[in-house]
Amino acid sequence: MRGFTVVALHLLFYLAILQHASSFIPTDTKAAFGFFGISHETQTKNAIKVIWEGYFGKGSATIPSAAMTRALKEIAGANAFVDEDQINGELHFDGESFILGQQRLIDLGNWTVQAVRRNDSIAARKLLGQALHTVQDFYSHSNYLEMLLSTGAKKLVPHPGLGVEGTMFYPLGPTVNTCNPCENALQCGEGCEKNLLPAGLTSGYYGGEPAFKKPTKYKCSHGGLLDTSSLLFGSPVLYAGQGINKDSKSCKFSPHVDYHEQAANLAIIASRQYIIGVVTSKITMNQRALLFGNDLGLNSLWNDYPQWWDLVDDFIRLHKREDPSVFYRRAPMLHNAWHTFVAAKNVHEHGIALVRAMTRDKLHPIQFVKRDAEENATGTDYLGWSEVAAETGGHVIKVSEDEDIEKAADFLKMLSNPDLAEVLSVGGAAQKDDVVNYTFPIDSTLESLLFSTSGVSSFELFSPDGSRYPLDPSMNKNIRVRELSDNIALNISILVPPAGTYTVSLKCSGDYTLSISGKSDLFLVGFRFTEMRGRPGHEGAFPIFGSPVTGQSSLAEAWMHGNFSKGAFEFRAKQNKFIAEQSSIKIDSELSHHGTRFEGQSSSIPADDFMVYMKGVNDQGEEFQRALLHMISPSHVKLDLPKAEAAMLEAGKTVTIPVTVVNTGGVDDSFEIFAVDEKDVVTDVSKDKINLKAGETGTFDLTMEPAQDAVVGSNHILVSVKGTKTRGNKAVVRAVIHPPRREILESEITQRYYANETEQLIKDMIAKEEQGKLRLRSEDFIWRDGAFAGY
Ligand SMILES: *[C@@H]1O[C@H](CO)[C@@H](O)[C@H](O)[C@H]1NC(C)=O
Ligand SMILES: *[C@@H]1O[C@H](CO)[C@@H](O)[C@H](O)[C@H]1NC(C)=O
Ligand SMILES: *[C@@H]1O[C@H](CO)[C@@H](O)[C@H](O)[C@H]1NC(C)=O
Ligand SMILES: *[C@@H]1O[C@H](CO)[C@@H](O)[C@H](O)[C@H]1NC(C)=O
Ligand SMILES: *[C@@H]1O[C@H](CO)[C@@H](O)[C@H](O)[C@H]1NC(C)=O
Ligand SMILES: *[C@@H]1O[C@H](CO)[C@@H](O)[C@H](O)[C@H]1NC(C)=O
Ligand SMILES: *[C@@H]1O[C@H](CO)[C@@H](O)[C@H](O)[C@H]1NC(C)=O
Ligand SMILES: [Zn+2]
Repeated sequence: MRGFTVVALHLLFYLAILQHASSFIPTDTKAAFGFFGISHETQTKNAIKVIWEGYFGKGSATIPSAAMTRALKEIAGANAFVDEDQINGELHFDGESFILGQQRLIDLGNWTVQAVRRNDSIAARKLLGQALHTVQDFYSHSNYLEMLLSTGAKKLVPHPGLGVEGTMFYPLGPTVNTCNPCENALQCGEGCEKNLLPAGLTSGYYGGEPAFKKPTKYKCSHGGLLDTSSLLFGSPVLYAGQGINKDSKSCKFSPHVDYHEQAANLAIIASRQYIIGVVTSKITMNQRALLFGNDLGLNSLWNDYPQWWDLVDDFIRLHKREDPSVFYRRAPMLHNAWHTFVAAKNVHEHGIALVRAMTRDKLHPIQFVKRDAEENATGTDYLGWSEVAAETGGHVIKVSEDEDIEKAADFLKMLSNPDLAEVLSVGGAAQKDDVVNYTFPIDSTLESLLFSTSGVSSFELFSPDGSRYPLDPSMNKNIRVRELSDNIALNISILVPPAGTYTVSLKCSGDYTLSISGKSDLFLVGFRFTEMRGRPGHEGAFPIFGSPVTGQSSLAEAWMHGNFSKGAFEFRAKQNKFIAEQSSIKIDSELSHHGTRFEGQSSSIPADDFMVYMKGVNDQGEEFQRALLHMISPSHVKLDLPKAEAAMLEAGKTVTIPVTVVNTGGVDDSFEIFAVDEKDVVTDVSKDKINLKAGETGTFDLTMEPAQDAVVGSNHILVSVKGTKTRGNKAVVRAVIHPPRREILESEITQRYYANETEQLIKDMIAKEEQGKLRLRSEDFIWRDGAFAGY
């Protein structure tokens, strides 16, 4: 009895926490790192950073900018999400799925190049990330590495044909035996490393992949505790879990555990080969910069500005006004990678929500240009836009006179520097002529300071000693001021006030917002709430869908750029009121080579909206403060869209995904449901409304039908559930619509790789390598004793 209990607990433990699917570990979660091995996320980052050094210069990879870090995260995130699908074996090169796997890599490479050429960096990063997953799994799931080593290769030479257009792989037939049982029922170690038969290139079968069922017991299994294929076709139970995968450093999950580090290193080299050979060699330098987030300044907002301004002009100029009561579906919007400017028309609630969704990961805020309706001079009726401006750290910029409209362009230009670190972002409601004070530290890493406000008629700055800091541009040529009705922007360049704690004093004229930012090497790159997920088990930390849930603690991860000696996260209300220090979100020293990474459990999520700040001491011993612009709106419902983040929509194909809603609010409630997307492919939501008792879970279906001739590329999809008594939740999915899949014609194939000829291929490559005809810098990626030792 006792024994049974122990075994059952053991199994439960593995099922709940470590359940392993068919892949390298997806993400760099602290819990998994070190124990599991080198994740897809780390492999992807290391491969790309080496490429950066080649394209963008030495040092570009040491501590990348926020935008580059974000690009890396997007690619690595899309890669990790492939593990949500453990049914389609070709995603992981399982079960000798070489033909479909290769086809997939060719398609994804082609679509990535097309996306970059359309300037669609979101789609390009998602497509590339997914391709890299399949590339990396090839080395963990096939016996290519074992063949390389047994043939005497001294360097980790990747397969030359993976993902290359015009190239096809041909598997051994279903009757060719590839594996024997391991000796003595061992699951890993020496006894199990000799289970391969010398037949040629093969890969392990994994239970639960219907298109790739193990045809005989003499085919290899993926292996590991949870691979049901290792039990099939009469294998004695004793041999359960045997196989050939090199996914992890755990014997329980990876029979070929001793090859894990080499498999991961080879996967990194192969990722780099794929990125360069299939993608970046086919695009221009500017397009490479776009793909990897190194395009600050390349894609200036002002390229598109004149067109947009004409549109705005049409409805803000008095004599051009239309009927203000008319609702529009979409708002006129100027939208690039860094900023969004919206002309705040009378837009339907769904249109406003979509704008909010599209700016989810913006480095810089939404600025609204609102005509201050003179026919409604006392109203502060901003139709919901002021809320969205506050949520994104932007301003509502009201213009009323035609002369203001002339000046607005200059004003917006001042706000549109994409390269600033946020120090303080606050807002609130005041009586007319109220004075409101905020204190904040200035540190010497700030090379410039930009104050921008709305709803403020004037402001003053006070030095740490209480004296007024002179802000008169006629006295100080480093100061530049722009005013636009009750909006002010002030830029201090070069001689920034000395380090210390300052007070800014605002004279308000109603609802107001203030943002203080500056150019600095020390900034908060990102902060996000995550959860353990990954079908069929819980394998990695993935960003949550929608907002975190009030009253619950959530796992979180964050990154800082630059040097500092001490720092801690804080949650604060938009009015700057302190909510809680996040002392358990700690520095992750093992992954410090990607900037400073933090991970940990947040304190209980508050009921009201909050902002994330980092407060600390820089390496000069001065106090610093940084803020993340986007406000977080906690929710009383949890939304889940399984597989949605990896959603690939094929033009001409209808997809239905189930959405789960959990009412966590403790109150019975009725929730209104809607879904909208950028490209109008959402055609149906199966319920308009869902009634849920406290704690109850419900579901509805979301149907998407991209037309055959749909515009391919990224598509933001917003799913919203709104409570009548409690607050709802909104989740944003960035999906990619790709062109219809295309069969590769026999006549297009110029290079054929037969699985039975792989050994000869390897021998030829080794010979070429030795003659110096094949150059490999495998030493770029050094893993020693489980730790990254540099590239
Ligand atoms: C993508 O595929 C199309 C159709 O086969 C082909 O014409 C095009 O050259 C390919 N593009 C790239 C970048 O491989
Ligand atoms: C992509 O962006 C560049 C730089 O702004 C621009 O010159 C080019 O025309 C854009 N390409 C497309 C297809 O929009
Ligand atoms: C003026 O403001 C009020 C209150 O905010 C609003 O109900 C009304 O529709 C507005 N009128 C116009 C013409 O915008
Ligand atoms: C501030 O002024 C300096 C000097 O004129 C200029 O280089 C910088 O771009 C300005 N910054 C902003 C955000 O306008
Ligand atoms: C704001 O701060 C200034 C400088 O410290 C001080 O003189 C003033 O009284 C403060 N005003 C308010 C409303 O707190
Ligand atoms: C951080 O400090 C190191 C060592 O002093 C220096 O080499 C590096 O440039 C600094 N990084 C930043 C972003 O300031
Ligand atoms: C490998 O298999 C292919 C296709 O079945 C066959 O044409 C070829 O002769 C085989 N090569 C060797 C070396 O056996
Ligand atoms: Zn996988």
